[in-house]
Amino acid sequence: MTNLVVLTGAGISAESGLATFRASDGLWENHRIEDVATPEGFARNPDLVHRFYDGRRAQAATVEPNPAHQALARLETSVTAAGGRFTLITQNIDDLHERAGSYRVLHMHGELNSALCSTCGARTPWTGPLGDHPNCPVCHDPALRPDVVWFGEVPYHLDRIERVLDDCDLFVVIGTSGVVYPAAGLASLARAAGARTILLNLEEQEGWVRYDEVRLGPATEVVPQFVADVTSRPDW
Ligand code: APR
Repeated sequence: MTNLVVLTGAGISAESGLATFRASDGLWENHRIEDVATPEGFARNPDLVHRFYDGRRAQAATVEPNPAHQALARLETSVTAAGGRFTLITQNIDDLHERAGSYRVLHMHGELNSALCSTCGARTPWTGPLGDHPNCPVCHDPALRPDVVWFGEVPYHLDRIERVLDDCDLFVVIGTSGVVYPAAGLASLARAAGARTILLNLEEQEGWVRYDEVRLGPATEVVPQFVADVTSRPDW
């Protein structure tokens, strides 16, 4: 095993208590994407958007990483110690991977705990609310927005993601419905580069790309078992 890449989605944080998006009780059942997750929605009603992300930021601070996050942090340490390369790409904007001990995390949809200034482009670590329109610490304009990639915006770290997928040996997808691109297309990129692809998810979803292996079940069971299997093999 030299180059292992993992992609996670909301499903890995579900058992920590954070809602996913497309389940029957998901975030998109209670909020219209066009109102809270587009630049147009923010321009139309910034306070509604700030309330949405301020609430998610506050809730994320009250929950803990679960055994799936912790298993991935162990896997990263094992792969790196064995001289391999490990990259964790996440669609999630919570910081549960980092709080579990992962350190090479690419948040392709941004992060709750970061504020982006619409005036000067500065990014500032931010754990409080943005709804009270605080000033940007750099240019002092009251122009801070959530540092989150909205629909219609370009996800972060795409160049780096493409590079790590270029010579990827094993690509593992965890807890995502695989309906939002470009994240949903990464498994095909990895396969084209010759990687073995594995899906760890709660349930099957129709229209999924072909994976070499699929393990179904809750992430807190399936991910630690997968990590134990991979790290116990002599050839990995
Ligand atoms: N364990 C494993 N998988 C789970 C669990 C669990 N406990 N609970 C749910 N899942 C799976 C679901 O079966 C589903 O396939 O996680 C997936 C969650 O899918 P979505 O709610 O669509 O979340 P995600 O795939 O991360 O959404 C991608 O869409 O709206 C945008 O920006 C948002 O990053 C998000 C992107």
